[in-house]
Amino acid sequence: MTFSHLFKETPLGPYTLKNRIVLPPLTRSRSSQPGNIPNKLMAEYYAQRAGAGFMVTEGTQIEPRGQGYAWTPGIYSAEQVNGWKQVTQAVHEAGSIIFCQLWHVGRVSHTSLQPNKAAPVSPSEIKADAVKVFIETAPEQGALAEPSKPRALSTAEVEELVQMYKAAAINAKEAGFDGVELHCANGYLVNQFISEHTNNRTDKYGGSLENRLRFLKEITQAVAQVMGADKVGVRFAPLFSSTDEERVYLGLVESDPHVTYIEAIKILNNIGIAYLSLAEADWDNAPDLPDDFYQDVRKTFDGVIMYAGKYTPEKALKVLTKGNGDIFGFGRPFIANPDLPDRIKHQWPLNAVDPTSMYGGTHQGYTDYPIYAK
Ligand SMILES: Cc1cc2nc3c(=O)[nH]c(=O)nc-3n(C[C@H](O)[C@H](O)[C@H](O)COP(=O)(O)O)c2cc1C
Repeated sequence: MTFSHLFKETPLGPYTLKNRIVLPPLTRSRSSQPGNIPNKLMAEYYAQRAGAGFMVTEGTQIEPRGQGYAWTPGIYSAEQVNGWKQVTQAVHEAGSIIFCQLWHVGRVSHTSLQPNKAAPVSPSEIKADAVKVFIETAPEQGALAEPSKPRALSTAEVEELVQMYKAAAINAKEAGFDGVELHCANGYLVNQFISEHTNNRTDKYGGSLENRLRFLKEITQAVAQVMGADKVGVRFAPLFSSTDEERVYLGLVESDPHVTYIEAIKILNNIGIAYLSLAEADWDNAPDLPDDFYQDVRKTFDGVIMYAGKYTPEKALKVLTKGNGDIFGFGRPFIANPDLPDRIKHQWPLNAVDPTSMYGGTHQGYTDYPIYAK
């Protein structure tokens, strides 16, 4: 196989992707204030990257309590839905397909970001360690902070949250999105239900693996009812390592990721979702996913499989050739190279990413990365 295989059309749900290169979800914290409203600058940023065969928005909170970082956009108010319309329209005009990543951070938040400065909500009252959130300290200024201690949701509140996911999917449809992706990765709310480290509930949402996967199952069914299951994706970030220390991901440990996620994927396959997005650990010296996990994912799931996490075109081709994955997300390279697919196709050099302008700020380090000039 050659790089040209990354540029073959490929199906995803009812859509035909023009290539296998994906803009994965990337929080950039540039929504308009007050109200966390998507804006024209964001529409420009996404449209610039519409060379991707498939695009997923940055994590987008489904309700006010779902926010864990300053200036991230939401999808629960009419103003936010209107703001997103500019984004979906610009992307469609530029010729790509875009799903909205529905996000709830759960305990990875701070009282200053919460309605009435209340405690963040989580399956259980267990504080997140080894992770920082980003809060606003003055208009347009922020700082890293320790997450606040959460309070446990009641059973009725968990059931209400399922309805909030459904309402967010209705809003996403109204805003013109082609589908939704559920953010179930990286230690956020859904992940907090899945891990026994963060979930010591004794109701139907805690205890056995079946119970810890119930919230995932119910929100997936709820958004599938709105969009059609073939317009729904789910993102996980399974982390395999021999030491507990390395397995802490945003303060969360999973004791048996292979069993947990294969079981979760069986549920999603029964619902019939369009794709599964697996985020691999992306820091230096991060542990790789084991080969047998890649293979079991493929055996268990009938839809499209996406991988991301320090991918190069070479690595994408290797996973594609082995038959383990179908589409591939390039995160930081896409931040710095709006024309990334062209650059990959022609093997042009890449701009380096500026880490200081990733979260928050102006158009600088956002829409001003140059396209390749010969
Ligand atoms: C600035 C930044 C913001 C991110 N925001 C999100 C997010 O909102 N949702 C999510 O699921 N992943 C998020 N990620 C993870 C990326 O989607 C991707 O998995 C990660 O960057 C690894 O890919 P890369 O090595 O190609 O950058 C973020 C990563 C970065 C660098």
